[in-house]
Amino acid sequence: MAIEIRPARGDELDQLGLLTSYVYGGAFGDGPDNLPAQSQRPEWTLCAFDGAKMVSSFSTFPFTMRANGKATALGGVSVVGTLPEYRRRGLVRKITTQAFADMREKGQSVAALWASQAAIYQRYQYALATQLRHYSIDTVDIAFHDDDGGSGRVIRTDVTAGLDVIREIYKTFIADKTCYLHRARVMWSNNALQPSEQDGPVEVAVCYDTTDTPCGYVVYTLRSGRVDHEARSQEIKVRDLAWLTPDAYRSLWSFLARHDLVGRVTWDSAPLDDPAMEYFREPRMLHTRDNEGIWLRVVDVAPALEGRGYDTSAKIVIGIADDSLTPWNGGSYELEVSPSGARVSKSDATPEVALSLKTLASLYCGFRRARDLAHWGYLEGSEGAIAKASQIFATRHAPHCPDHF
Ligand SMILES: CC(C)(COP(=O)(O)OP(=O)(O)OC[C@H]1O[C@@H](n2cnc3c(N)ncnc32)[C@H](O)[C@@H]1OP(=O)(O)O)[C@@H](O)C(=O)NCCC(=O)NCCS
Repeated sequence: MAIEIRPARGDELDQLGLLTSYVYGGAFGDGPDNLPAQSQRPEWTLCAFDGAKMVSSFSTFPFTMRANGKATALGGVSVVGTLPEYRRRGLVRKITTQAFADMREKGQSVAALWASQAAIYQRYQYALATQLRHYSIDTVDIAFHDDDGGSGRVIRTDVTAGLDVIREIYKTFIADKTCYLHRARVMWSNNALQPSEQDGPVEVAVCYDTTDTPCGYVVYTLRSGRVDHEARSQEIKVRDLAWLTPDAYRSLWSFLARHDLVGRVTWDSAPLDDPAMEYFREPRMLHTRDNEGIWLRVVDVAPALEGRGYDTSAKIVIGIADDSLTPWNGGSYELEVSPSGARVSKSDATPEVALSLKTLASLYCGFRRARDLAHWGYLEGSEGAIAKASQIFATRHAPHCPDHF
């Protein structure tokens, strides 16, 4: 029987639950109503069916992402899986190809995902866009080299009552950043505020400045018996942390440091430009490790580049290599950018820099600089053009996405 590729119906989402239970080995729950099944709407999915049987699943969340200060529509690709009996027959390639065309039609000019194995997606022109910085530090080592532990008042608050306050802080925190997602309430409850039997209740603490204005927050869990230490066996796991002033950042860490029975504070989703390494007296005691974050893909070059913020005024012609999954993308584009907006159009002019869609994704989010990409053999152009591209695509902050989807 021919395989059909189409969105799942509402009464087929239980199959998506069972399929994802199996292919992810229970990581997101087992059974027809596991987390992936609960978080889907039929119209977001694109699945493969052998008769009535779902054999591949795929879905695209309609997210909004920050792109150097602008809000842009992002296709958040999730629940990619094929039953083992049907693997290596090109089903995910087929679905991905159709999904990119659908995203283009819906105005989602960039796509992103968390990859189980990067090899699957790099061939589809996804580039690494963010990393998750992991810290693990003993509270006795939380100290500032200049002895400034901040002057904010940090107060624990009820999770439900505190949500409105921390949502506002988060919105301001991400406003001029890149790759952070706009969080609907359900995203808060499925990520930062998701209860965990293993880690204990979710705690929220808000920092107020001297005028009583909320200026930062930390979401965390606290459990004892986690650290092999006679007196300080408790562990704090930071889930989410946002700050609007350096003083708030310092105050939040000082608040964590006041947990005398805590022998370890971990945070596994700090951004690469987090300032702890600069502020702390002994940065090596953070035991920093960087892990892969999200992978990003440019689905439609012109609207993607127009949908992003720029901090410089310049003009450049870029040449994008042909791509079999999104054939509309290949060719030359003229970009005219300024802090007030960008105009991007197809052009007959000779490109000043030539690159693949994957390299464009690295540039788009500011994860890589044009100069480094040229140095590594991923971008071609004159010295002057490479310098211009480096300036045009620079982002104000390191791209970051702490939310899993
Ligand atoms: C990954 C997975 C979804 C692929 O499904 P599939 O229907 O077999 O996919 P396809 O046959 O279309 O293969 C997709 C491409 O990825 C490649 N690929 C698949 N698995 C791969 C792997 N483990 N490592 C490297 N490449 C891989 C294939 O060679 C193919 O490349 P091509 O399109 O250039 O020919 C499937 O193996 C699976 O369900 N794995 C377990 C769950 C998982 O990892 N999901 C991804 C979550 S982000």
